[in-house]
Amino acid sequence: MKTTTEKFGVTPHQPSLWTRADALKVRADDPTTTQPLVSADFPVLNNDVFIWDTMPLRDLDGNVTSVDGWSVIFTLTADRHPNDPAYLDEDGNYDILRDWNDRHGRAKMYYWFSRTGKNWEFGGRVMAEGVSPTAREWAGTPILLNDRGEVDLYYTAVTPGATIVKVRGRVVTTEHGVSMVGFEKVKPLFEADGKMYQTEAQNAFWGFRDPWPFRDPKDGKLYMLFEGNVAGERGSHKVGEAEIGDVPPGYEDVGNSRFQTACVGIAVARDADGDDWEMLPPLLTAVGVNDQTERPHFVFQDGKYYLFTISHTFTYADGVTGPDGVYGFVADSLFGPYVPLNGSGLVLGNPSSQPFQTYSHYVMPNGLVTSFIDSVPTDATGTQIRVGGTEAPTVGMKIKGQQTFVVAEYDYGYIPPMLDVTLK
Ligand code: FRU
Repeated sequence: MKTTTEKFGVTPHQPSLWTRADALKVRADDPTTTQPLVSADFPVLNNDVFIWDTMPLRDLDGNVTSVDGWSVIFTLTADRHPNDPAYLDEDGNYDILRDWNDRHGRAKMYYWFSRTGKNWEFGGRVMAEGVSPTAREWAGTPILLNDRGEVDLYYTAVTPGATIVKVRGRVVTTEHGVSMVGFEKVKPLFEADGKMYQTEAQNAFWGFRDPWPFRDPKDGKLYMLFEGNVAGERGSHKVGEAEIGDVPPGYEDVGNSRFQTACVGIAVARDADGDDWEMLPPLLTAVGVNDQTERPHFVFQDGKYYLFTISHTFTYADGVTGPDGVYGFVADSLFGPYVPLNGSGLVLGNPSSQPFQTYSHYVMPNGLVTSFIDSVPTDATGTQIRVGGTEAPTVGMKIKGQQTFVVAEYDYGYIPPMLDVTLK
C-alpha cells in the first residue's frame, strides 16, 4: 500500500495495526468492559418499525447537540411486517426473527425528537421516497452546521454499490416538535478506490460505509472516518509478522485469517464545506484479525484521540475471538500510532450469556454509550429469544489513559445533549 504521498498538507502515515497478539488479550465477561445484562422485558420504542444504528445530531467537534431544547436522533429504520403473509411461519405465526434479519435490505433514515433525551417521539423519514439514489440508506452522521438549523446528513447509499454521500436540509422546531425540511438533493462524495480500500469487484463481501466527519481539534481541518476493507483481491492478503504481533509459542498458525481485512478509513476535505474529499490510507487495519470495523468514531479527550469502532464475533479471523460490541484505540495525534485500549481493544462487549443483546455502540464525549437491542434470550438455554429493534439502556463509561471502565447504567435510549443551540 502506498502511504508516502503528502496530500493537502497532511503528514504521511503508516496505518496502525490491530494485531492477532492484541486480540488474544480479549477477555469476554470482564465486568469493567461488559455491558450489563439487558432484561428480556425491555420496552419497545415503536411497534410499527424496527430501529437499529442510532445517530445523535451533533456538531463537527463531536458534541451531541439539541436545538431549542429538543434533542434529535437519526436511526436506521425498517417497517415491521406482523401481518404480511410473507413473514408468517409454518404455523401461521409472525416470524419476527426473519423480518428483523431482512431489515438491512430496506433500511431508511428516520428521525426522532425528545425534550428529555429519552422517550423519543417519532419524526418520520428524513428523505422522501425516491430522493436517495439506492435501495438502502445505511449509517452515517447528521451534523448541525449553524444556528440557522442547517444540517448535513452524511450517510451510505447502498445497492447498487456503496457510495458515501451527503444531503443538506434544515431542522425546524416549534413548541410541539421538530421537523426536517429539505434533504432533497443527494451528493455523491466517494467510493472505494481498489488501491487503498477494497472494492466490490475485489471482494463481494467488501465493506465501505458509515461516514463520520469531524474537525481535528489540533489542526482544525475537516476529515472523515469510515469503515473499509484493505484493498486487494479477496484471499490475496498476507498475514505476516507485523499482523501477528508478539504471540506465545504455538500461536503462529494464522489459518484462513487472510480473508479478514477490516480497516478504519480516513479522508480529508479539500474545501471548507466538505463537498470535495480525498481518501488517505487507513488509520487502522485489522488484517488477519477481523473483517469488520464498523461505524468508526472519535472521542477527543485529554489531548488524545480515542478511536472507537464496533465489531462482531462472527467477523473475527481463525484463532482469535471476542464479543459483539465496541472496541477502541488511542493515540496522541490523529494519524497515530494507535494503541488498543485495555490492551486488547475491547471496550464494551456483550456478556457471553446474551451474546446478541446489543450492537452498534456509539461512544459520546460525555462517556455515555448508546446502542440498540438486537435479541435477548427468554429461557435458560437461549433457544427462545425476543427480538429488539429498539434502543438499549445507555451505559456510562470512564476513559482514563489507555483504559476504560463501565461505571453506570441509564435508561433505554438515554442520549442527553451536551450543548443546546438556539435557532435564529
Ligand atoms: C452496523 C451496520 C452498519 C451499516 C448498517 C446496515 O449495525 O452494519 O455498518 O451501515 O448496520 O444496516
